[in-house]
Amino acid sequence: MRKVILDMDPGIDDALALLLALKSPEVQVLSVGTVAGNAPVEMTSANARRVLEYMGVTNIPVTMGAAKPLNHPLVDAQNHHGSDGLGQCGLPPPRLPVQSMSTWDFMAQLISAKPGEITLVATGPLTNLALAFERYPQLPGLLARLVLMGGAYGLTSYGKGNRTAYAEFNIWQDPEAANIVLNSGADIYALGLDISMDPRTHLNSSHLEQLRVGPTPAARLAAQLVEFDIRRRGYCELHDPLTLASLLDDSLFDFVSVKVEVIVGNGWDRGVTRVLPPEQAGEQPLIHVASAVDGSRFLELFLSRMFKEQNA
Ligand code: BDR
Ligand code: CA
Repeated sequence: MRKVILDMDPGIDDALALLLALKSPEVQVLSVGTVAGNAPVEMTSANARRVLEYMGVTNIPVTMGAAKPLNHPLVDAQNHHGSDGLGQCGLPPPRLPVQSMSTWDFMAQLISAKPGEITLVATGPLTNLALAFERYPQLPGLLARLVLMGGAYGLTSYGKGNRTAYAEFNIWQDPEAANIVLNSGADIYALGLDISMDPRTHLNSSHLEQLRVGPTPAARLAAQLVEFDIRRRGYCELHDPLTLASLLDDSLFDFVSVKVEVIVGNGWDRGVTRVLPPEQAGEQPLIHVASAVDGSRFLELFLSRMFKEQNA
């Protein structure tokens, strides 16, 4: 069982990733950090706690992190995730408290106490991680692994932008933070739009029907969450659950090891993640980028975990 710290901006698909983690015996969630991204940080932190509380989980600490990207104002995605950030799913406000320590200090404390044992899973903008790595430069080297949802690498025909024509939302939101994190020297597995925009990984209305009549609270909440998207667009992307799934069954994915440049600033190419050809690559560390996924086996895994009676 891997010990994981989640860092997220729930967000419909972040909430689905949290449900998947809670249902998966391969991972033990030590804490959930929250960051501004899909919605303001007060809302993403409340949403993490709303989901935990609904699942009857009261022993996983939730911390609140950065309220805005390092150099840019927050541009949230509530138009996409609903005005409550969770597709108007109807969960009550949380009663669980948020921890008083900041996400970066809490993360540093946990990771330093168990060197080499903890995997960090980041499914939002990378602001909290950048702040943690700047304050505690030894941290990247103390991680077992960093797994993140972010980027569009042009490795498949789906590897184009979603926030702009060229850039993926999490990296676009805070490219300066992404640049720090991708160059931190941590052992990084990045899962981007190359795989998560593959329609074989999307939920459709027949999956929604199965979830709706599912035997578990997790299935019924997942139905409420995905319904918001499926009603509007006919399908629901599972960016963040895919990222978590790479820790559950690594045979679902192919990865390539490459050097990546992140375009910072606020130009037309803000947030682009460019795979560098060897002749242009410098001292950047290699990172592992997902280049293929077995979509139907991933969906089977996701649904079977939602239908599983016990939490992990
Ligand atoms: C990413 O952006 C967010 O809206 C989703 O939660 C996901 O993490 C996809 O680009
Ligand atoms: Ca997210």
